[in-house]
Amino acid sequence: MADYVPVIAVADFPEEDKHTCQIKGWHVLVCRDEGQFYAVNDRCTHAASFLSTGRMRRGALMCPLHGARFEIASGKCLGGAYDPLRKFDIRISDGMIEVSVPDEAPGMMDLPMMQIG
Ligand code: FES
Repeated sequence: MADYVPVIAVADFPEEDKHTCQIKGWHVLVCRDEGQFYAVNDRCTHAASFLSTGRMRRGALMCPLHGARFEIASGKCLGGAYDPLRKFDIRISDGMIEVSVPDEAPGMMDLPMMQIG
């Protein structure tokens, strides 16, 4: 089983409710919605844009490139046009948000477009 990696303290979580980091080469986007934390791959499943630069409203992330919306809690694309986001396990331990990514490095299809090539 993959290890959990400390990402940021709950107390330091940004007011805009998004935080990004890299773990083992994975681009991780941690979001807070109604007090719950979620971690997803920071890559739109349509054409690989970063999602972290998009807006977050009412429990959904909007892709900045073409406007697809993804439900944060489930990762699914609202309207169903694209595949769901890849989610990562997340937990809170001693006030720290911790995320677990796969042991294997991300493949080309897992990376945001600026990381390809
Ligand atoms: S890259 Fe996200 S909607 Fe097209």
